[in-house]
Amino acid sequence: MISFQKNVFHLATKKTSYIIGVFHGQLLNLYFGKRLKNIPDIGDMLTVSYSRTFSPVDIRADGTEYSTADLTVEYPTFGTADFRSPAFCATYADGTAVTRFEYQGYEISEGKYSLPGLPAVYSEEGDRVSTLKIIMSDEVAGVTAELYYGVFEDYNAITRSVKFINSGENAFDITRAMSLSVDLRRADFDMVTLNGAWARERLPERAPLRIGIQQVASTRGITSHHENPFFALVDGNADETSGEAYGFNLIYSGNFVAGVHKDNYNCARAFIGINPQNFTWRLEKGECFYTPEAVAVYSDSGIGEMSRIFHRLYRERLCKGKFRDIRRPVLINNWEATYFDFNEEKIVEIAKTAAGVGIELMVLDDGWFGKRNSDNCSLGDWVEDPQKLPNGIKGLSQRIKALGMNFGLWVEPEMVSPDSDLNRSHPDWCLHIDGRKSTLGRNQLVLDLTRKDVTDYIKSVFDRLLSDGDISYIKWDMNRSMTEVGSAVGGPAAQGKVYHAYVLGLYDIMDYVTKNYPDVLFEGCSGGGARFDGGILHYFPQIWTSDDTDALERIYIQYGTSMCYPYSTMGAHVSAVPNHQVHRTTPIKMRGDVSICGQLGYELDLNKLDEKDMDSVREQVSAYKRLYDVFHTGDLYRLMVPQGNNAAVNEFLAEDKNTVIICTYVMKGSPNMPYGFVKLRALDADATYEDESGIRYTGEYLMNFGKKLSYNHDYISDITVFKKV
Ligand code: DGJ
Repeated sequence: MISFQKNVFHLATKKTSYIIGVFHGQLLNLYFGKRLKNIPDIGDMLTVSYSRTFSPVDIRADGTEYSTADLTVEYPTFGTADFRSPAFCATYADGTAVTRFEYQGYEISEGKYSLPGLPAVYSEEGDRVSTLKIIMSDEVAGVTAELYYGVFEDYNAITRSVKFINSGENAFDITRAMSLSVDLRRADFDMVTLNGAWARERLPERAPLRIGIQQVASTRGITSHHENPFFALVDGNADETSGEAYGFNLIYSGNFVAGVHKDNYNCARAFIGINPQNFTWRLEKGECFYTPEAVAVYSDSGIGEMSRIFHRLYRERLCKGKFRDIRRPVLINNWEATYFDFNEEKIVEIAKTAAGVGIELMVLDDGWFGKRNSDNCSLGDWVEDPQKLPNGIKGLSQRIKALGMNFGLWVEPEMVSPDSDLNRSHPDWCLHIDGRKSTLGRNQLVLDLTRKDVTDYIKSVFDRLLSDGDISYIKWDMNRSMTEVGSAVGGPAAQGKVYHAYVLGLYDIMDYVTKNYPDVLFEGCSGGGARFDGGILHYFPQIWTSDDTDALERIYIQYGTSMCYPYSTMGAHVSAVPNHQVHRTTPIKMRGDVSICGQLGYELDLNKLDEKDMDSVREQVSAYKRLYDVFHTGDLYRLMVPQGNNAAVNEFLAEDKNTVIICTYVMKGSPNMPYGFVKLRALDADATYEDESGIRYTGEYLMNFGKKLSYNHDYISDITVFKKV
């Protein structure tokens, strides 16, 4: 619901209010938090009603003074009285860089705005979603800004994006364009971010805000293993179930910044958008530019509820296509089983055993094309290696299909190896700067997706691979950070656009392949989880979470990822022991119990398992199929988080609340342990729940007395299913 009265916009979801005021032509953020029934007058919502000493002032018509430096500003710009971190900066034809937007008007409409060429959450018929467009302009500079707000009433989320129009006579350069900026009227928060590196992605870090700017960012051209375009601002004592929590996420797959500027008056300015580093977007007369979409959520009942708001929205209104709603297949992938050392027979042998335990999809990973026996050649030459696949993809996929399985393939379409026919015939198709040495990453270069001839080529590769229907799954990998980013096309004025234009080129291809091949399931990947973001999830409903397949490590990685992204989006595989990344040996049961809540896969040669382990695999695959809906459409309650504990417990509560699954993982046990109980959440206190062995409990018992935890040795795991009777 969106209303406008007495210069105040009220954007209301079921549980939150977001309030913006028009104050002497300026747009102020007046409130973001718990839903208000009565909206105060604008004067009562101003942070201060006078201007502070040393604040440059504007004079009102009545002669009194105010300063934006002292107020909470909705979309701040550089160059006037507000000295905090600006949302928008531009350099104009006369060389100056001052912008001052004045309010012009607004439009309210039903449904959700869309963003041309960019991923975004969407509304479906019957959804209570509305759009507010606020128009601002700077007549001197010749720039108009349209601020877009999507209000998802039942999902309790607000989305934002900005469209800039060159409404003047001269071209200008946008140098900073945040998707969201919001001034919170308090700053005594902890900031939570998701950080890591290859094979240890998205581990939450939490620290109190201090005065100044704190931010996470990427300049790698991808969102990165290292930092994620998400952060939360939470009460100092907030936990999973209590305290206020604000969450901010950018639906974008390139360079980003996500941060907070705490000022000296206890205001926290949260901002998120494209990273301004090496971003200069020339806007010619009449042209427009859209920022990516930002999502903001608020919870008054802890970090757990903040995550659930993101999960529901992303599962249902960010992911799209037929795989959003149907059970996705259990797969087996040959990467850790064979690496580059395989041939048709080996793959068929792996698939035969997998088919026997109910696995539905055989995925052939890296090494099937060109002369690729290691990672130093052939990317770009997407033609089968006849040594390994004498009957081609077609011959192999037919044999896989004859086993009753589907066939899937790995590709890394954005890349080119220096040693490849593609690079020899098109040496200027990669990102590079003439006369400057290009740094290699995993022995490869990045194709220049700002070029139409390159994106057309990549589309044609997919057309060739996918048009005969032999392939029902694609793992889309991307294995390096970008360096020496320049394009051979467009000249000097285009170079500041390359990072963002690359991402637009990527989305164009992803849009093309998913529209043209709607029956193919795509999984995103970037050296594991270097591009785990909402942009990818809009096109591909699942992403390979991490190259670290150790069960214990995965408990932490999946926990951190679940701060913002639902388990239904996490590719999760059972691999061999000793684990290839950390050399740890965990039981097959634990490896399965950790993977079953994500998109389950196997990444090992099942022929090497003994009968007992094979029985476990059989059970896991059948449990996955049976419980899929609860894990993938239910709500997640993190009953015990792994950080700071030797165990972790997750509850998944089915949408209809009739089934609840408790997943328990003990990372480190101790003998002679003290008592341990974990209390379930959100059950019906008066109902009776029965576990799989027929024992009955009341909801009241499970939520107050709790479920007993036993952790007297390492690597205990358990999946308990309760059904309401
Ligand atoms: C990185 C991926 O994360 C792995 O799963 C695997 O596909 C390799 N690339 C193949 O090169």
